[in-house]
Amino acid sequence: MDRLHLWPEPLRAQPWMGDAGNLAALAEDVDTLLSACGREVTREHVPRVMTEARRLARHFGVPEGAAAQAALLHDLGGIVPRAEMVPLCEALGIPICPEERQMLLHAQLSVVLARERYGVTAAGMGQAIRYHTTLHAAPSALDLVVFLADKLEWDQGGPPPYQAALRRALRNGLEGGATWMLRWMASPEARLLVPHPDLRAAWATFGVTALV
Ligand SMILES: [Fe+2]
Ligand SMILES: [Fe+2]
Repeated sequence: MDRLHLWPEPLRAQPWMGDAGNLAALAEDVDTLLSACGREVTREHVPRVMTEARRLARHFGVPEGAAAQAALLHDLGGIVPRAEMVPLCEALGIPICPEERQMLLHAQLSVVLARERYGVTAAGMGQAIRYHTTLHAAPSALDLVVFLADKLEWDQGGPPPYQAALRRALRNGLEGGATWMLRWMASPEARLLVPHPDLRAAWATFGVTALV
């Protein structure tokens, strides 16, 4: 990997030699890295998101392997300590918008890790990983699956308060689920401090009026 010295030590110490298409091996490597970097909350969250992403993918006719792979990788950038995210993104040449200085940059770093560590270079995969928090103006079915799986199996402790309502909304398809979720994210309950431009773009696409 280029610029390897910029990444946390456990990642440098354990080069990846496997095939990222082998989901069991990928899951094990991701789990090992998250554990070595002390990211226990994410470590517990990622397999739940993967199971949910597979379930949604099967149900809605989206390639299941791609959904599982994106779900496994979506939060891996979280191995970078928060204080080091901005300097690392700058060193990697990732443009940072003002909202991202207050929000997590982990998704962009996950895309770099997916590409540079695991050789996952398909544009559709990078897109699903990058936009898993916010969606964007023109999401693919894979983007919607990863976004919704991440919301159904969130990492804030216990099931999210909206889980049953979101599952009901999914009876109207992935778009129905995404619309419901984006509306919730626009409500005061979401306690969103600064809406990211990609989230605003998703709100516009799905006809959601932001209350924040
Ligand atoms: Fe995330
Ligand atoms: Fe996540």
